[in-house]
Amino acid sequence: MARQRRYGVTQRKDRWWVEPALIGGGFFLFVIYTTVSALLGDNWKFEIGPYLSPFFEPLIHPGWLPDWLSPAILILWAPLSFRTTCYYYRRAYYRSYFLSPPACAVAEPAKRYSGESKFPLVLQNAHRFALYVALIFVVFLWYGALRSYRFEGEWGIGVGSVILTANAFALMMYTVGCHSFRHLVGGSLDCYSCTSFTKLRHRTWSLVTVANEHHRLWAWVSLIGVGVTDLYIHLAANGVITDLHTWSSF
Ligand code: FES
Repeated sequence: MARQRRYGVTQRKDRWWVEPALIGGGFFLFVIYTTVSALLGDNWKFEIGPYLSPFFEPLIHPGWLPDWLSPAILILWAPLSFRTTCYYYRRAYYRSYFLSPPACAVAEPAKRYSGESKFPLVLQNAHRFALYVALIFVVFLWYGALRSYRFEGEWGIGVGSVILTANAFALMMYTVGCHSFRHLVGGSLDCYSCTSFTKLRHRTWSLVTVANEHHRLWAWVSLIGVGVTDLYIHLAANGVITDLHTWSSF
């Protein structure tokens, strides 16, 4: 059968548009929320006691930063560049926003396919470099999570500590499940059993594969999780809700 190019033409009978519509809506809400939350900066407190919103971790507030600019600006470029170049997210937003293609076996508007070989899409190939930076941020997030169990020299635990720990775990699973990370630890080898180093790499690759097999799930869990964590700490820091914890006060 001749290929039909008119947009949206398909022989599919299911509601193929539901998934790209939900994903597009979800991304849109997250971007709006992140932008508003980050830009409010000091006007909408982002830390309380031992808790610091993950959008601001690690907290960098240099003197040259104008008051109207949130310190989150110095942080968010890293996770955003990692997510926007992620192989899973590319597939998702190419479908939802560029309709290229809108779904499997559904005709797309583009007449030709040039892949990601031309500017600006060729920049997607920088994903592995975004990964290197994201790995550093996983360390920062775990540091922030562990720090949340200690306040004014006293060990304790609060709902915020648990949420920050779950957030660090979800973001770690998303990051180590990255296809580029899997290649980094186990790729470019002809023999896994040749040396003790290659055996170690194979074991690491097998562990990473556990997260990689559910990369889409971790992408969404960590995306929603980081938003919920940020919201919880903002609400607690601004007195909208009270954090339950073992410390006498903060
Ligand atoms: S492929 Fe998704 S984070 Fe690398």
